[in-house]
Amino acid sequence: MVEQERIRQAVRQRYARAAREGCCGCGLPVAAETGCGPSLGCGNPVAHAHLRPGEVVVDVGSGPGLEVIEAATLVGPRGRAVGIDITPEMVAAARGNAAARGVPNASFLLGDAESLPLPDDVADVVLSNCAINLVPDKLRAFCEAFRVLRPGGRLVLSDVVAQQPVPPELRQDLEAWSACVSGAVDLEDVLRMLRAAGFDATEVLEESPVRWGSAWGVQLRSVTVRARKPRREPRSRGSGC
Ligand SMILES: C[S@@+](CC[C@H](N)C(=O)[O-])C[C@H]1O[C@@H](n2cnc3c(N)ncnc32)[C@H](O)[C@@H]1O
Repeated sequence: MVEQERIRQAVRQRYARAAREGCCGCGLPVAAETGCGPSLGCGNPVAHAHLRPGEVVVDVGSGPGLEVIEAATLVGPRGRAVGIDITPEMVAAARGNAAARGVPNASFLLGDAESLPLPDDVADVVLSNCAINLVPDKLRAFCEAFRVLRPGGRLVLSDVVAQQPVPPELRQDLEAWSACVSGAVDLEDVLRMLRAAGFDATEVLEESPVRWGSAWGVQLRSVTVRARKPRREPRSRGSGC
C-alpha cells in the first residue's frame, strides 16, 4: 500500500484539475480525458435518500456540490445541506455553484472523510457519491459517517466496487487510485465495513455497470447502498471504530 498521504495528494491534484476544467475525474488516465460535464458521480444517492423538509444532510466528497444544492432545495429553509471535500478547488467551485443558484442553506467545508469537521449526532442523512473509493481508510470514513449521524439517521452511498480483486501492484498506482480504480473494494467488503462501523439495516438499492466499463484491466460496477445508525444508543459505535 502506498503511503496514505501520497494518495490524498494525488486525489487532491486530480480533483483540483477536474474543478478547473470540468473533466470527469473517474475511470480514465488524466491524459485521456476529454471533459464530460459537471457531474462526477457514480449513482444518484439523493434520489434514494427520500429527503424530508427540515432535515440536515451531509455529503462526503461533495465535489462541485450539485447534490448538496439539490438536497438543500429538497430539505427547504428549515433544513440544511453541508458538503465536505478534501480538495480546496472543489470547495470553492461548489460555493460558487450554490451562490450562483441562490441556495443559502447549502454550505461547504474543506475536510477529510476520515475526520469530518462536524460534531457528533448532527445529521439526519449522510450521502456520498463516488468518493469513498478514493479514501485510503474506508472503515474510518464509515465510522465518521456513523459519528455525525443522529441515532436513527441514514447513510446513502453510491460508489464503484471492483468485480475482482485489484492486483497489489495497481494499488500502488496513484493515477489509477485517483481515477476511482485502485481504491475500489468489493461489495461484500463495503457491507462488512459498514457493519463494523456500527450500521445496521444495510441494503443494496441499485447495481449497474459504470459508464467507463473497465479501467486498468479492472472490471468495476456502480452500487448504491443504504444503512442506518441504530436508534438505541447514541454512541453505540461498531467494534471496528
Ligand atoms: C469523483 S468526485 C465525486 C464528486 C461528487 N460527489 C459528485 O458526485 O459529483 C470525488 C470527490 O471526492 C473528493 N474526495 C476524495 N477523497 C476525499 C476524502 N478523503 N475526503 C473528502 N473528500 C474526498 C474529491 O476531492 C472529489 O471532489
